[in-house]
Amino acid sequence: MSGVNEIRSTFLNYFKKNGHEIVASSPLVPRNDPTLMFTNAGMVQFKNVFTGIEQRPYNRATTSQKCVRAGGKHNDLDNVGYTARHHTFFEMLGNFSFGDYFKEEAIALAWNLITKEFGLPKDKLTVTVYHTDDAAAGFWKKIAGLPEDRIIRIATSDNFWAMGDTGPCGPCSEIFYDHGESIWGGPPGSPDEDGDRFIEIWNLVFMQFEQVTKEERIDLPRPSIDTGMGLERLAAVLQGKHDNYDIDLFQTLIHASEEATGVKAEGKFRASHRVIADHLRSSSFLIADGVLPSNEGRGYVLRRIMRRAMRHAQLLGARDPLMWRLLPALVREMGQAYPELIRAESLISETLKLEETRFRKTLERGLGLLGEATEKMGDGDSLDGETAFKLYDTFGFPLDLTQDALRQRNISVDTEGFAAAMERQKAEARAHWSGSGDAATETIWFSVRDKVGATEFLGYETEKAEGVITAIVQNGALVQSAGEGEAVSIVVNQTPFYAESGGQQGDTGTISGDGFTVTVTDTQKKNDGVFVHIGKVSKGTVKIDAAVELVVDSVRRTRIRSNHSATHLLHEALRETLGTHVAQKGSLVAPDRLRFDFSHPKPISDKELAVIEDLANEIVLQNAPVTTRLMAVDDAIAEGAMALFGEKYGDEVRVVSVGTALHGDKAGKSYSTELCGGTHVRATGDIGLIRVVSEGAVAAGVRRLEALTGEAARRYLEEQDERVKAIAGVLKSSPADALSRVTALMDERRKLERELTEARKQLALGGGSASGGAQSETVNGVGFIGKVVSGVNPRDLKPLADDAKKTVGSGVVTFIGVSEDGKASAVVGVTDDLVGKFSAVDLVRVASAALGGAGGGGRPDMAQAGGPDGSKAEAAVSAVREALAG
Ligand code: ALA
Repeated sequence: MSGVNEIRSTFLNYFKKNGHEIVASSPLVPRNDPTLMFTNAGMVQFKNVFTGIEQRPYNRATTSQKCVRAGGKHNDLDNVGYTARHHTFFEMLGNFSFGDYFKEEAIALAWNLITKEFGLPKDKLTVTVYHTDDAAAGFWKKIAGLPEDRIIRIATSDNFWAMGDTGPCGPCSEIFYDHGESIWGGPPGSPDEDGDRFIEIWNLVFMQFEQVTKEERIDLPRPSIDTGMGLERLAAVLQGKHDNYDIDLFQTLIHASEEATGVKAEGKFRASHRVIADHLRSSSFLIADGVLPSNEGRGYVLRRIMRRAMRHAQLLGARDPLMWRLLPALVREMGQAYPELIRAESLISETLKLEETRFRKTLERGLGLLGEATEKMGDGDSLDGETAFKLYDTFGFPLDLTQDALRQRNISVDTEGFAAAMERQKAEARAHWSGSGDAATETIWFSVRDKVGATEFLGYETEKAEGVITAIVQNGALVQSAGEGEAVSIVVNQTPFYAESGGQQGDTGTISGDGFTVTVTDTQKKNDGVFVHIGKVSKGTVKIDAAVELVVDSVRRTRIRSNHSATHLLHEALRETLGTHVAQKGSLVAPDRLRFDFSHPKPISDKELAVIEDLANEIVLQNAPVTTRLMAVDDAIAEGAMALFGEKYGDEVRVVSVGTALHGDKAGKSYSTELCGGTHVRATGDIGLIRVVSEGAVAAGVRRLEALTGEAARRYLEEQDERVKAIAGVLKSSPADALSRVTALMDERRKLERELTEARKQLALGGGSASGGAQSETVNGVGFIGKVVSGVNPRDLKPLADDAKKTVGSGVVTFIGVSEDGKASAVVGVTDDLVGKFSAVDLVRVASAALGGAGGGGRPDMAQAGGPDGSKAEAAVSAVREALAG
């Protein structure tokens, strides 16, 4: 029995033996097709080769292509886990001829491979052809010797393959494997064709046409071949299985998930393990190709897949995040064939863990709500869209997760209601959004590219060069000339201007010729290497075919260079300090600063930041030369060069090495090595200095550093220095002593504040003694202390009265407090021996009345009241005195 890895290499080597170039799988995020969400077939990376727009140094190729079908047109997500052959991620084996061989050889190659190399018995195989394709039917008869009844003519689109509404297309011929009578189903085209007995294993497409628009179909320059065979299906056939999930690769993943959860893949848990195994593959490969979970576009499809798997992990009773623990098994199985999985392992692991940790926080509560909402529902019922939207919005349940959760109870979801609720929420945001009308302008670059080819870039070596203007574009159309003051986009056959790419901003400068000057404010790259200089005619009239001199703004470019090299150093310093899960998520290299976004799950401490800055500056001080090499992309990556995940590189890549590592395993070797097309300093000393000025979050799991270099960093520090000097000046101290001086001042200030509070209190009481310095008098034979105090909190009046009671021994005490806003409060105390004679409550009411208030309350020995008019405070004391006097 052959394992998946062996089957894959047998396929590729077979076609290599037959003159095909083994081409690496292209990334899951297509680079050459803005309409496609994910690569979903082997031919995607060759689309422009079929149509003749792009040339390759070979005309036969073979691939094992990573494919994702989730989201967009081909969406298998809903079925995954519950059927034998649905996957979100799968590998498509294919062979391609670009105008080389056609039907006959394609059929011969395929037949030979499956019957000889793979040894499938002829009587198990049936083929289909497009109903009008006599030629293909004839070849099948001649080459395979198949009887007429096993060469079935199909008139439907099943046998006419198209990549989408537009693009290369043609009739196709499919090979089916008969899994035998024990399984229900009939051959293709028969009434029972939807059964599971006859399974399509290989599709041979005879690429002949290009669908240009919905109505217009033209011939391809040369008839070509595109084939696609699902590796998982083939493996099932070769391993004697009927179900893709029973092949060795899936069984290994399912066992890992059984081990980790302690739950067997049986009964109602079977689907959950399958979902987890499938989704682990798609999630990991998508992350390796640069997709991170988010709330829109590709990132959201990834999040949906991840969360669907995570709910199934929860169904299996997993207490902790599960997915990341299964990753090593996947890397062991597939890392050899797809090294990007190994390179991105720590990033994938961190991302899976982070997402599952976050989602688990709301999962239980969301499932609780879902349970309540559907408690009384049964077979055939439908959950309202509002609830589904609430689950989405509040608990992070993608719609398909809710659907999946209700699937086994046969409850559907009102998707229209869900969409309406979503629409309502978006309405306001949309009101502020206005679409860009750039689409028309963009198409012009296709014809410019056709006409003038790619621009030759001279800017690594020079900032000044001569060239010839090959195209002038205004308002989305080609023009012959443009006059003074007009906005233009100019293409020159060669240029020193760097076009924005890899985060590095486009160059600015001037293009001048006979009697004219164009001021260039930006440079952009369009369609496969057309450099477009964007600017304005500042003098004269610019004309097509004119010879020009191009001069880059050198000061600006020098700063950009320095910021770009510093970005590489910070990237490496981050990895050294925080770990190799740090991967670049974006960057901006501008003349005045640099910005670097990278994957890391938590904030960076000040201490870590200081280390990172030190490490990067250590290399600056080395003043080591920056070297650039052109290398084969595989060699570069094998040497440890850092590549952007999912970035498509040409056959040869620039590899930039900066500095010599001083610590760790890399000591003595290059400090930073990256695939990079940007412009860099000659030696690290040119950077001058790197200063990080901010660190923060940009998205879940993504942090951002901003830094300055050279003159900007020096100026930044100078400003800081000026500030310290100014502070020292005010303190009449030196900058060195300023901190201890400020600390001392702060201590002193706190002490003074405390003293001031105490002093104000004492002052309010009119002296230092316990009773507030109030004099005791005798009224009608009774001891009496009465006093007005200000600035004393009403609640401090009572302790004052208690003290005064002690001072007077036997008698009555009264304190009226006046607050800063002029209100009054009164306290009256009566010593115990006189409680029978006087009531503190009665007396405080007398005081309160004098203050313009009413009421008051307490006990006979101590009572309190308020009053609005603080200016009557003395009168209130007198009123109590008079009350005693009788
Ligand atoms: N492009 C063809 C398919 O996807 C081979 O089936």
